[in-house]
Amino acid sequence: MDKLLKVKIKLNLMVRSTGNKKVKIAVFISGKGSNLKSLIQFSKNNKSPISIDFIISNNFKAKGLDYGKKFKIKTKVINFKNKKIAENKLLSLLKNYSIEMVCLAGFMKILSNNFIKKFKGKILNIHPSLLPKYKGLNTHQRAINNKEKYSGCTVHFVSSKLDSGKIILQKKIRISKNDTPNTLSKKILSQEHKLYPKAILKVLNP
Ligand code: GRF
Repeated sequence: MDKLLKVKIKLNLMVRSTGNKKVKIAVFISGKGSNLKSLIQFSKNNKSPISIDFIISNNFKAKGLDYGKKFKIKTKVINFKNKKIAENKLLSLLKNYSIEMVCLAGFMKILSNNFIKKFKGKILNIHPSLLPKYKGLNTHQRAINNKEKYSGCTVHFVSSKLDSGKIILQKKIRISKNDTPNTLSKKILSQEHKLYPKAILKVLNP
């Protein structure tokens, strides 16, 4: 066979296999893990470009860890008492498992600059407000107290400042007169489950 033709076939195969290769994701959680569940379901879709290969938690009581057992995904609980030690452990785990992207989903620890730099542009977070409004905690209560007409959810890149990285996607949701923090949180959470997969697709296919 002509040498050039051989090279062309080889290149073609390489392109095809890279195209089919799923992006390996680790999801960091601290609690219920309903976003984790929706990401796992999304990853199971044939056409999904991602696989969830690792679930990390700082909290051994996190309910979401059960999804590890259910879907046969590796889980690891990391004690964050000493953040530097915890993050070093994390970095070597992620490297060993060839994790390419990190999705924070209700992860209640703030990652250091050093960690964020090592995964620059590859750490996403979901937040239950229309950022830049209502960074931090108790977003629904604060939005209702301020008589906002709308709230929503945001997926953004993680930067060194809390809930401040570049916004990838947002979904706006109307706050009704009867909404309590609880009802609003339910409405927003169900939209979060749709928004996170969409945001990942946007990042992977800009
Ligand atoms: C979500 O509202 C997310 O936006 C926030 O924490 C909550 C996590 O919920 N960062 P879950 O554990 O995914 O159910």
